[in-house]
Amino acid sequence: MSANKESWGSRVGLVLAMAGNAVGLGNFLRFPVQAVQNGGGAFIIPYLVCLLLIGIPLLWVEWSMGRFGGKFGHHSTPFIMDTMHKNRLWKYIGVFGIWTNIAIAAYYCYIESWTLSYMLHSVVGTFEGMDQDAVAAFFNSYISIGKSTLGIPLEPIVFYVLCLLLNTFILSQGLSGGVERVAKVGMPLLILFGMFLAYKGVTITAGVDGAINDSSVGLNYLWTPNYEQLWSPSVWLAAAGQIFFTLAVGMGTIHCYASYVRSKDDIALNAMSAGWMNEFVEVVLGAAILIPISIGYLGIERVTELVQLGGLGLAFKTLPYLFFQWGDVLGAISGVMWFGLLFFAGITSSLAMGTPWMGFLQDEFNWGRKASAWSFGIIVFVLGMPTVLFFKYGVFDEYDYWAGTVSLVVFALFESILFAWVFGMKKGWREITSGSDIKVPGIYKFIIKFITPLLLLWVFVGSLVTPKGGDWGAALAGNWVLDDSSIIKKMMNSSLKKELADAIAAVNPAEVERLQNTLFYVNASRVLLITVFLSIALLVYVAYKKRVREGKI
Ligand code: ALA
Repeated sequence: MSANKESWGSRVGLVLAMAGNAVGLGNFLRFPVQAVQNGGGAFIIPYLVCLLLIGIPLLWVEWSMGRFGGKFGHHSTPFIMDTMHKNRLWKYIGVFGIWTNIAIAAYYCYIESWTLSYMLHSVVGTFEGMDQDAVAAFFNSYISIGKSTLGIPLEPIVFYVLCLLLNTFILSQGLSGGVERVAKVGMPLLILFGMFLAYKGVTITAGVDGAINDSSVGLNYLWTPNYEQLWSPSVWLAAAGQIFFTLAVGMGTIHCYASYVRSKDDIALNAMSAGWMNEFVEVVLGAAILIPISIGYLGIERVTELVQLGGLGLAFKTLPYLFFQWGDVLGAISGVMWFGLLFFAGITSSLAMGTPWMGFLQDEFNWGRKASAWSFGIIVFVLGMPTVLFFKYGVFDEYDYWAGTVSLVVFALFESILFAWVFGMKKGWREITSGSDIKVPGIYKFIIKFITPLLLLWVFVGSLVTPKGGDWGAALAGNWVLDDSSIIKKMMNSSLKKELADAIAAVNPAEVERLQNTLFYVNASRVLLITVFLSIALLVYVAYKKRVREGKI
């Protein structure tokens, strides 16, 4: 019998925890940046289409896979998938559903720790009276290890460890005693803070408090459809990527949370409640804060420039300064709300990332809740420290690319095939609709069987072999030169190698050294990530052998 005795305390708690899993830094930081990087209004239509044809179907698929696996006492994807078909390989595909979470948590908790620290800085008034350059310099000095802004030595490491300890402690209190409690407090607060900031964001008026544009300029920029770029596959790929990240599909967390739902309870309506809550927070609140405020004060051109340099710049290097245009008191309050909101969004997601690993240890090796939570904290610490220490050498981005982007698509593709074609759509549909409190539209039977897997395949192939400049016309006509952003070229480090060759040609020793280091750390991160993946796969094998020995299989 499994040692895993977790359960949800209430339906509201489950939906809030599941919404908390989805609502995260992605809603407030990634979504606006993706929208700007992909042409503002051009992004929204593919985004909404991907939501309906990939996001919603996968929510139902993952919730029902989870509840199905839970009936057999499985709470993580390796053995959930194993119960769905007799082929032994599925459980190794399921490794993605544990690995992705550990790898994402490693860098995600680092940003989460910034929000914790920035919340504190907003409370103690660090940003008061600083000009924009000073706020930006503050961020740069914060992330350079060795310097301190609070007088605490190794400040980013201290906050990172604090953040991990907090996550570990909450996880060790269990689902209803820890995760659910935090979601019940964090989600309403986050929505409250978000509504306040969104209200400020949509009422910015040119000429008042130093604003140069009305808020409508930023909002129109985001929402005016731009049909010209509508057919650009790269915009579609970015939109699909955002849907994965924001809904937390393709990760394994939804399966885990849903595996604790009782077999007769609804999942169809629960999935929609959590999913649409996420969309409200992303599309309504997420879109009404960062971009309208930044464009209101800085203009479209400057914001686009800052976003191209990396989205974190706006949220951490710019917004704390802009808030003070509303006066000292409101500036401080807004800072606390903004970073508080980000912190709650982050922690309700990172907690979810701990649960598949914990569920696996509890199910397969009879580990207790506390031991499994601490093991998660320790692994994330070891894997995450390189993102903290070598942030400037691209370790963070490397984790985000492989775990937070590619892996989600790969896993989602496999699970959609398993669900619709191997497990079978007939059984699958029964799983989705059994106990359902809503009528699931029949069209989704067709969408889940054909459209979702095909779109996922297209997203995957499109990312694997993206042609140069996104010129699919030329590629299909026979001139298929791979773009540096394609997965294959990324694997070969083509772009970095070109930059290195240029730096050598330009006799720029400092840049040569930086790029050589970057290449080293990028490759080392991959080795680390692969090692973690293989180690989990080995544990799955050991667990499988143990099950055979115990006569469970
Ligand atoms: N879904 C989480 C987010 O959007 C991971 O940040």
